Amino acid sequence: LKGIFAYLNYQVPRTRKEIFETLVKGLQRLEYRGYDSAGIAVDGPNKTTDINGNTICLIKKRGKVKALDEELYKKDTLDLDAKLNTHFGLAHTRWATHGEPSAVNSHPHRSDKDNEFVVIHNGIITNYKELREYLITKGYEFESETDTEVIPKLIKYVYDNRETDSITFSTLVERVIQQLEGAFALVFKSRHFPEEAVSTRRGSPLLIGVRSEHELSTEHIPIQYNSGELCFFFFPFCLAIIEHTNKVLYLEDDDIAVVTGGKLSIHRINRQAGEDPVRAIQTLQMKMQQIMKGNFDAFMQKEIFEQPESVVNTMRGRICFDSNTVILGGLKDHLKEIKRCRRLIMIGCGTSFHAAVATRQMLEELTELPVMVELASDFLDRNTPVFRDDVCFFISQSGETADTLMALRYCKERGALTVGITNTVGSSICRETDCGVHINAGPEIGVASTKAYTSQFVALIMFGLMMSEDRLSLQKRRVEIISGLRVLPELIKKVLSLDEKIKAIANELYQQRSLLVMGRGYNYATCLEGALKIKEITYMHSEGILAGELKHGPLALIDKHMPVIMVIMKDACYTKCQNALQQVTARSGRPIILCCQDDPEVTKNAYQTIELPHTVDCLQGILSVIPLQLLSFHLAVLRGYDVSSQHIIDHMSFAIRKCHLLLQVDCPRNLAKSVTVE
Ligand code: G6P
Repeated sequence: LKGIFAYLNYQVPRTRKEIFETLVKGLQRLEYRGYDSAGIAVDGPNKTTDINGNTICLIKKRGKVKALDEELYKKDTLDLDAKLNTHFGLAHTRWATHGEPSAVNSHPHRSDKDNEFVVIHNGIITNYKELREYLITKGYEFESETDTEVIPKLIKYVYDNRETDSITFSTLVERVIQQLEGAFALVFKSRHFPEEAVSTRRGSPLLIGVRSEHELSTEHIPIQYNSGELCFFFFPFCLAIIEHTNKVLYLEDDDIAVVTGGKLSIHRINRQAGEDPVRAIQTLQMKMQQIMKGNFDAFMQKEIFEQPESVVNTMRGRICFDSNTVILGGLKDHLKEIKRCRRLIMIGCGTSFHAAVATRQMLEELTELPVMVELASDFLDRNTPVFRDDVCFFISQSGETADTLMALRYCKERGALTVGITNTVGSSICRETDCGVHINAGPEIGVASTKAYTSQFVALIMFGLMMSEDRLSLQKRRVEIISGLRVLPELIKKVLSLDEKIKAIANELYQQRSLLVMGRGYNYATCLEGALKIKEITYMHSEGILAGELKHGPLALIDKHMPVIMVIMKDACYTKCQNALQQVTARSGRPIILCCQDDPEVTKNAYQTIELPHTVDCLQGILSVIPLQLLSFHLAVLRGYDVSSQHIIDHMSFAIRKCHLLLQVDCPRNLAKSVTVE
């Protein structure tokens, strides 16, 4: 599982050193996704005694890409200055799922000791046990504990049992994937097919980038190139590709892409009638600067401070503040159908789930429909009943989260209308849903999600507004919310200006072992999300508690030693929250309170206060979460997790060379930005 990157230069002379650099750079772009080991496959020195004289050299290493990079230059058998006219190299970062992080468990995996076939894989093979047992009975020996290793073994088995010597590489791969169950993006390399690349996917994303000195002769595949200089890149995400080319092609499930003799073609096992035989080359519109850290120490910090702009980008072109209308282009054709539905089901994981919790009450109010909010994994565990007249929302920053994607397929099978709320154009969730909204928050690099949350929040609010446009009784409320959205960026700036104060509070708290965050109503989601941020990057225990539940258990935790953060805003829950506050202070608790400006009643009972600008009740959660994002960041820094853990950006661009290290706050231990396994 994890990042795959492959690079083929066709008739473009590259030294081995340059090839190494490209592969390593490709992996560095994917580092932010989290991993524990890395490896590459390149052509080795030719030996005339070998099949076709070709050899493949595998270099794998536990730990960081940097360690792998150093390892590459230790191989004295590989001439770094040798110019290779055409060459195909693979690279992979692994995040352990089957078997511990180690060189032998990391990719590329191989068919045998002679490396006849090597493979990199992102995803999971669910029937690997059966395949492995079968292949063992056929005499194939396994060296790793991974699910992936069955793939190179299987392709060798198919090759060893070929009926003709003229069998093609893509036919072999075709036969292999017919046996595989699960999710995968795969890239194959073989000594038997030197200079050829074969790649395929099912359920996991895969992009092919093409760079050519000449104009592309067609924007549609199959493309024919008879000569010329050409490079192909295979990778799951735009981030790794953008510095090489902006011409990309998305593979569909079970497409097999083959590059041979500089020609790229797409093969499919089952040619179904009516299927589009063409894959269009698209142009990515992503700017390098967008993913730069700027003057901030960490991406997470940069992303927190970007929120005044990112929420504007979410609203841009969609809200007309003069006429109080909202149009979400991706939903408008389905609006009638959505309005006829019986229930809305909001599904996500982690932060994306919290965005659903945060907006549920507003959606219930504006749509007058029952709204369920569901964690994707639990939703699937329960085999939740879903019907044709349900509308299911899949909220996911990355658009690739396996649990959410699986829930999407589950709902689709049952005939529900599916809507994606994603930040990643071209992601699996965005392509597999019937319709959707891009939140347009820009790339989010920090593993702990911040600006994506507030943009998901805004996107869901806009959906509620669009649904209620023709409800006379709701007009006043709609106008109030739209006016709130208009000034939201300014209010976010005011909250961000409290950074110093929040840092001072962090200074008092960072040595604690635990932090409770309490609130209710519109701000309950803030407690869940704030506690998640604290867990993720500070490794402290933290819990979001519904204040209404205080007396049913959590109150037992309260004494003068237990740090408590309370969110008490001027909304319908204000009095109830004050009761909770009384209960805490009565037990000598020392609450740090997030409250509205000018609230002497609350302030007098607080140990510390963070005073926020007041806004419409259903938007308040956008403001109240930000101090907790900042607090978690400062706590992490104070606890010593601001050490730079990985190089990622320093190779990224010539122009931007300063402070481009990913800090540990951006890449917390044990976590990944996008979790593409169940
Ligand atoms: C991972 C990340 C979280 C994120 C969750 C859902 O667990 O570490 O930060 O909230 O996945 O991700 P998604 O991309 O679906 O929003």
